[in-house]
Amino acid sequence: MSASAPAPRVPLWAMGITFALLIVFGGVFLLEFIVASEAPAATPAPDGAAAYVATVEGLLATADPARGATLVNSGFECHVCHEQGAGRVAPGYDGLAARAATAAPPLTAAAYIYQSITEPGAHVVDGYANAMPNNYPSRLSEQDLADIVAYLLTR
Ligand code: HEC
Repeated sequence: MSASAPAPRVPLWAMGITFALLIVFGGVFLLEFIVASEAPAATPAPDGAAAYVATVEGLLATADPARGATLVNSGFECHVCHEQGAGRVAPGYDGLAARAATAAPPLTAAAYIYQSITEPGAHVVDGYANAMPNNYPSRLSEQDLADIVAYLLTR
């Protein structure tokens, strides 16, 4: 073997392909990064979730589902979107309790429903716009919220 063997040259086309791949993968990575960093900050971190779940559980102890039904169907405009506009404007309530149980683990169904009402942007149901009013925390008392969650858990 001669000492002066030329170093293997990388052909120009191979360099071109490598460069193109770098740009494509770099772009995808950047995009994923931007999408991930835009995730709503309202969603509780997993270690905060246990406290959140316990708080909602505590509210439910004194909740009245019948009063919740009245609030949902007449006191506030929930039914306009969720019953009259079910499947178009907003997801219908039928089967909500079952869906809510697995929608955002480790949140329980009750905690998921509670947060969906108080921070609508925290979980946006697939196929729907983030169009739910976000002023319910100032319009509903804790008792109202508890009653509504208790009622929706029966749906
Ligand atoms: C202007 C229409 C509108 C009104 C009024 C409204 N919502 Fe919603 N709601 C939505 C839309 C759209 C979604 C789906 C997007 C999202 O998850 O934010 C939603 C999602 C939800 C969810 C999660 C549903 C699921 O299937 O996961 C719950 C629970 C909920 N709303 C409860 C309520 C309650 C209770 C009220 C009244 C106090 C109410 N909403 C009023 C439009 C509305």
